[in-house]
Amino acid sequence: MKALITAGGRGTRLRPLTHTQNKHLIPIANRPILQYALESVRDAGIRSVGVVVGIDNGKEVVDWLGKGDAFGLNVEYIWQDAPLGLAHVVKISQDYIGSEPFVFYLGDNIVVGGIERFVTAFQQDEVDCFLTLARVHDPERFGVPEFDGDGKIVGVVEKPSEPKSPFAVSGIYLYGSAIFEAVNAIEPSERGELEISDAHDWLLKNDYRVGHGEITGWWKDTGLPGDLLEANRLVLSTITPSIAGSVDNTSDIAGQVIIEEGAEIIASRVRGPAIIGRGAKIVDSYVGPYSAIGPDSYLQRCEVEYSILMDRAVVREVDTRIEGSLLGADVEIIRSQGKPRVQRFILGEQSRVEVV
Ligand code: G1P
Repeated sequence: MKALITAGGRGTRLRPLTHTQNKHLIPIANRPILQYALESVRDAGIRSVGVVVGIDNGKEVVDWLGKGDAFGLNVEYIWQDAPLGLAHVVKISQDYIGSEPFVFYLGDNIVVGGIERFVTAFQQDEVDCFLTLARVHDPERFGVPEFDGDGKIVGVVEKPSEPKSPFAVSGIYLYGSAIFEAVNAIEPSERGELEISDAHDWLLKNDYRVGHGEITGWWKDTGLPGDLLEANRLVLSTITPSIAGSVDNTSDIAGQVIIEEGAEIIASRVRGPAIIGRGAKIVDSYVGPYSAIGPDSYLQRCEVEYSILMDRAVVREVDTRIEGSLLGADVEIIRSQGKPRVQRFILGEQSRVEVV
């Protein structure tokens, strides 16, 4: 079995973070989003992984992942010239996949609990396609299945205005070779893309066997940068605590906390679930639940909770607690020095600041 993982796209919904970064490399609990997909397929026993990247920002992924050795994987890259839809991604990957069954995994999806049980179900049920479904409150934003009275899927519609069920088809699919027939038979949708939901619907209408399983602990970005905080919360709520860095005896660590190598906690309180990245320094501060503090960050006399701070972020001498915030790499929030005492901002395109 092989895996095909997507890691392209411009990530316009996650700006400004994606102005300078491929969205698949944005850290959730201090690991790039894409790492969760890679580890899920590896933990399901798959070693051969095709990663589909775009010509505009694929190099970043190649630089980070290389041949996949760090994850025990054998990675090859498939370059997509233009974002022509997920079924198009499958189409251009046919040579790589050959005649093997495969997992198609959208690299911006995170599943807590892994995918092994779905791989097993796909093999045992001997189906041509296995869809993982998640119950959601806004199915109109996803591919949505329709069921018959026996609970069998009879159709799939992409982003329907009137969803026929409360389920989303998540971005983890299992396929046999029939999917290539489907992606070669369908026509582009109104938005000019080859829709993966149309390929699933084609399989159903042509009497191929489509199985399904329900997934819990699923996340994907649905539009707002704040959604990343939810993914961070989801992942942090499953961490196993470990302390590799140093904690001085005037500090207090409570709950599930990971303190990575070389991190220093001095005269501070960390209340988990939280992760403090390698080389980060927390001085005279409070780090509250659902915070991910990136590598080499520096916090001094401040309070941070339910936030993501990326590499080398600095927060120094800020009186009000920082909450629900995302700080990109090298971002600084510091007390102003000298007179007059003013608020001063240097913000890139599409940044957002809320002041009290
Ligand atoms: C895509 C698929 C959709 C699926 C979703 C899951 O949507 O088209 O059917 O439910 O991924 O992540 P998109 O991310 O392109 O909106």
